[in-house]
Amino acid sequence: MPASTQPDVMDKLVSLSKRRGFIFQSSEIYGGTGSVWDYGPLGVELKKNLKDQWWKAMVRMRDDVEGLDAAILMHPRTWEASGHIAGFTDPLVDCKTCKGRFRADKLEDARCLQKPSKRPGEAEQCQLTEPRMFNLMFKTFMGPVEESASTVYLRPETAQGIFVNFLNVQGSTRQKVPFGIAQIGKAFRNEITPGNFIFRTREFEQMEMQFFVEPGQDMVWFEYWKAERMAWHQSLGLSPQRLRYHEHTGPELAHYARAAFDIEFDFGGTLGFQEIEGIHNRGDFDLGRHQEFSGKKLEYFDQPNNKRYLPYVIETSVGADRTTLAALVNAYREETVEGEDEGRTVLRLHPSLAPIKAAVFALTKKEGMPDMAHRIASALRPHFPVDYDETGSIGKRYRRQDEVGTPFCITVDTESVKDGTVTVRDRDTLKQDRISADALMGYLTERLSG
Ligand code: GAP
Repeated sequence: MPASTQPDVMDKLVSLSKRRGFIFQSSEIYGGTGSVWDYGPLGVELKKNLKDQWWKAMVRMRDDVEGLDAAILMHPRTWEASGHIAGFTDPLVDCKTCKGRFRADKLEDARCLQKPSKRPGEAEQCQLTEPRMFNLMFKTFMGPVEESASTVYLRPETAQGIFVNFLNVQGSTRQKVPFGIAQIGKAFRNEITPGNFIFRTREFEQMEMQFFVEPGQDMVWFEYWKAERMAWHQSLGLSPQRLRYHEHTGPELAHYARAAFDIEFDFGGTLGFQEIEGIHNRGDFDLGRHQEFSGKKLEYFDQPNNKRYLPYVIETSVGADRTTLAALVNAYREETVEGEDEGRTVLRLHPSLAPIKAAVFALTKKEGMPDMAHRIASALRPHFPVDYDETGSIGKRYRRQDEVGTPFCITVDTESVKDGTVTVRDRDTLKQDRISADALMGYLTERLSG
């Protein structure tokens, strides 16, 4: 993978995320848990906004997709049927010299732990073990007895919860094929080589949708969802130059897939273009396997045409955490500001994703300014996440909000107390409008929905 022409901002983002409360290392006071992350006050808002945008586009705005929230723990036979017990494995090699552990199929991209760092196996003294297959599913036990009969798995993808509920959802909603089922939820993978902050973690959230179609109509719907999903990423402000499709061909194409494309985002630096979403034509593999393993018919009855069939599935599968990282990377800028010595760090997040939509400042703590500013913040709070700040110079307060991506800063000054107007400063253009405080709701609603 050639290095990207985009700058590598990952270390800066890790530091900003901790300092400003977006993302913390899990269990940090104990030295951290390997590749598991916690979302802080601003991070939880950012990721929630992203998930809300997905739910709105995929479920609320459509009458052909239904929502679902299936459990993480599923019947163990699920994973036999899905192929995860037999096939959800990575080949693993250990280096006896540096004690590093690597994916045997990704040695080209890996670096051994000794300095000067080389590709594992490249240095003369480097001794790699034979590859052994390693299952990525986390195991646990259901009930008090720890024995193989009570083994259950933390789901490695949310998709299977949708397949096993296909007829429950179809029957209860009386949807007709073509229709989809969507859900957002946690998935767990014991990744061998996790890393790059929240790019590849062991606990993460997926936003998956399975669209059930009549066989023969599958490629039409595949093309439709490919275009829809790319448009969704762009609607969140991800730069079109940083997005591209990658087609799976040859051995890359999973055995169950009739066609597959990834949507890739350019994360910059050495990471470069990487998958953020997969769009797969899974045929009738999943419903067929669950029908076989459960012994329950999962066919759809097409009443008008009086025929039964197993629908084909077009899947769209996107990581909430990985897309949150893409949104942060895409938004991060270090800019000079005209007329000011100090530059600024700004997150040019799409307004729909920004954790705080508006900050309200009292210019000074005198002349009734804090009272008026508090009243404005209270009036806006039921509608938008709002921050109130009266400490430090106004320049510093702007910088603090720029750094977390707040689109608008509202300042109450001496004039405000006299005539009821305030200034509204735009994060991206730095332009200021003076408007009546009574008009703020309309002003912000219009600009935030753009
Ligand atoms: N049901 C299909 C499926 O799970 P996948 O390509 O393995 O497909 C889909 O995963 C998406 O989930 C990826 O594009 C990525 O955004 C996210 N994802 C997968 N593994 C991840 C991990 N270890 N950490 C963070 N996100 C992950």
